[in-house]
Amino acid sequence: MKRILSGIKPTGQLTLGNYIGALSHFKEYQDDSEPFIFIADLHALTLPIEPEELRKNSRDIAAFYLASGLDPKKATIFLQSAVPAHAELNAIVQNYLYMGELRRMTQFKDKAAKLKETAIGLGLFAYPVLMAADIILYDADEVPVGEDQSQHVELCRELVKRMNHRYGDILRMPKAVVPKVGARIMSLTDPSKKMSKSDPKGDIFLLDDPKAMRKKIMGAKTDMGPTVTLDPLEKPGIHNLLTIYASLDGISLEEATHRFDGYRYGDFKKAVADKLDEVMIPFRKRYDEIVESGSYREVLRDGAKRAIEVAEKTLRRVQEAVGLLVV
Ligand code: TYM
Repeated sequence: MKRILSGIKPTGQLTLGNYIGALSHFKEYQDDSEPFIFIADLHALTLPIEPEELRKNSRDIAAFYLASGLDPKKATIFLQSAVPAHAELNAIVQNYLYMGELRRMTQFKDKAAKLKETAIGLGLFAYPVLMAADIILYDADEVPVGEDQSQHVELCRELVKRMNHRYGDILRMPKAVVPKVGARIMSLTDPSKKMSKSDPKGDIFLLDDPKAMRKKIMGAKTDMGPTVTLDPLEKPGIHNLLTIYASLDGISLEEATHRFDGYRYGDFKKAVADKLDEVMIPFRKRYDEIVESGSYREVLRDGAKRAIEVAEKTLRRVQEAVGLLVV
């Protein structure tokens, strides 16, 4: 069976971008593939975070996974930190990726640009190494992610190529799968910027109440010209709202454009806000029930057991291949 691996980092409140670009797709794989979906909590330590916040965010992501329709009988859901093999494989594979490659990563450049040199942790720099270890450990064939993570998956592919060349075919070659619509949801206040947990202006958060979500959609920056047309360059704000609508409705961008052809912006935004209600209100309700019941705890415990079994085997394979004495 095809293996799927993806994760979300518990660094802040999840955004509509995380939902549309990644989270909402995970369940699509569970009937004919084997998904391993985890909470990238070790990655969350790469920038300063309060312990309580990290714990709450991690719990939230577990609840969001379940609320999105992932079935723990079909998908393995776990915390990265509960599977020691991630850190162990990281210690091995870090020797096969190079400073120059890591320095070129867009995410690192963006994040580092906001920090003083003395405040850039080694973990932030080495972030894609751990991410490569995450992917390799589960022999993942496909990695469903938003567009901003595809560069990291490319680097992982490079690593796999390198190690396979050196040691024989020991690792499975993964590939990033980016959604056709919604791989890069933009900020509602500035459609030239990505909607992002780390730069939350213009974000819709999955825990916003429906009123707040509607207000943000109605206040979204739009463009010149009174009616809806598809034009990513001249009308990036409308393009973003059309993308949000199309993703939530499961239709193509062309279909969405056709549906709202000639609509005035106010009416169109109202339709987007209604669609968001339709998807998010039941989602939020499921999230609340899961948090209330605490059922995510057992899911994470069971998930870690299963993940450890699979990850340990790969780790062992790599340890033997590189010449560590396994006794
Ligand atoms: P993270 O937590 O930043 O984001 C989680 C997922 O959401 C996607 N995403 C978006 N998609 C569309 N539009 C947006 N505006 C938007 N913002 C975020 C991201 O592309 C991602 O798929 N490094 C990862 C976590 C990770 C991981 C992994 C993922 C760690 N190890 C191994 C896959 C495989 C991250 O920080 O995602």
